[in-house]
Amino acid sequence: MKLGLEGRHALVCASSRGLGRACAVSLAGEGVSLTLVARGRDALEETAAHIRRTSGVQVHAVVADITTAVGREAALAAHPAPDILVTNAGGPKPGHFRDWNRETWMAALDANMLAPIEMIRATIDGMARRRFGRIVNITSAAVKAPIDILGLSNGARSGLTGFVAGLARQYVAHNVTINNLLPGPFETDRLLETAHQWAKDQGRDPDEVLARRRAANPAGRFGLPHEFGDACAFLCSAQAGFITAQNLLLDGGSYPGTF
Ligand SMILES: NC(=O)c1ccc[n+]([C@@H]2O[C@H](COP(=O)([O-])OP(=O)(O)OC[C@H]3O[C@@H](n4cnc5c(N)ncnc54)[C@H](OP(=O)(O)O)[C@@H]3O)[C@@H](O)[C@H]2O)c1
Repeated sequence: MKLGLEGRHALVCASSRGLGRACAVSLAGEGVSLTLVARGRDALEETAAHIRRTSGVQVHAVVADITTAVGREAALAAHPAPDILVTNAGGPKPGHFRDWNRETWMAALDANMLAPIEMIRATIDGMARRRFGRIVNITSAAVKAPIDILGLSNGARSGLTGFVAGLARQYVAHNVTINNLLPGPFETDRLLETAHQWAKDQGRDPDEVLARRRAANPAGRFGLPHEFGDACAFLCSAQAGFITAQNLLLDGGSYPGTF
C-alpha cells in the first residue's frame, strides 16, 4: 500500500533515538521530508545522516529541548508549516507520589502534556487551511492501564489524552486528524536503561530480568521500534483521514481487556 505522503513534511519531536526515530525513519521511507529534534547533537546528527543516506529525503536536524519555549521556537523555525506533527519527549522518572512536589509535577506536565499542546497550537491552523494534517502523539500504555511507579506519566499523559479527544473533533472536517500511539514495552534505549537500573537496584541479573519481561508478554517479546514507526506512518497516511481521536495500544496483547 502506498501511503500518499510523498513530498509532505513532518516535524518529529524527540527523534534521535527510540520511538521518535523509528517514526521518522518510517515516514522518510514514504518520501516525507523531516525536521528532527533532540537535545544531544551526536545521536541526532547520526540519525539525520542515516535517514538522508537510506531514503534520500531532506532532513533538518535541530538541537533543542522540546519542553522549552525556546526549543519549540527553534524546531518550528526550521520548518514552520509541517503537514505532519509527531509529538514526543522523554518520559518522567519512576517514583513515589509522596516524593513529588509542584516542581516535579510541572516538569512532567511540561514534557508530556503542555509541550505537545503548544506544538499542536503552533501548527494545526496551518494544517486546516491547507486541508491536510496528521498529528500523532506518542503517549504510553500507562494511559490505558496505569503503572504504579509511573504516576507522573499516568497523570500528565492522561491530561494530554483528554485534551486532544475534544480538539480532534473540531479539526477532522478540515482533514486534520489527531491520534495517540500508546507504546507498551518497546526495545529502545529507555526500556533497556530502565530495566538495567531496576535490576541493579534489586541486585538481580539484567539479562534475566529482561528475559522474564519478554516471556511475560503474550507475544513472548518486546516490540520492535520499526513496528511502532510503521503504525505511526499509517496514521499519517492519506488513507487515514477518517481515523481521529483514537488511542492505539501497541503492546503485544498485554492489556487484558476485551476493548
Ligand atoms: N520504549 C518503551 O517501551 C516505552 C513505553 C511506554 C512509553 N514510552 C514513552 O515513549 C517516549 C519515547 O520513549 P523511547 O523509548 O523512544 O525513549 P529513548 O529511547 O530514551 O529516546 C528518547 C528520544 O527523545 C529525545 N528527547 C528526550 N527528551 C527530549 C527533550 N526534552 N527534547 C528533545 N528531545 C528529547 C532523546 O534525545 P536526547 O536525550 O538527546 O534529547 C531521544 O532521541 C517516552 O516518553 C517514553 O516514556 C516508551
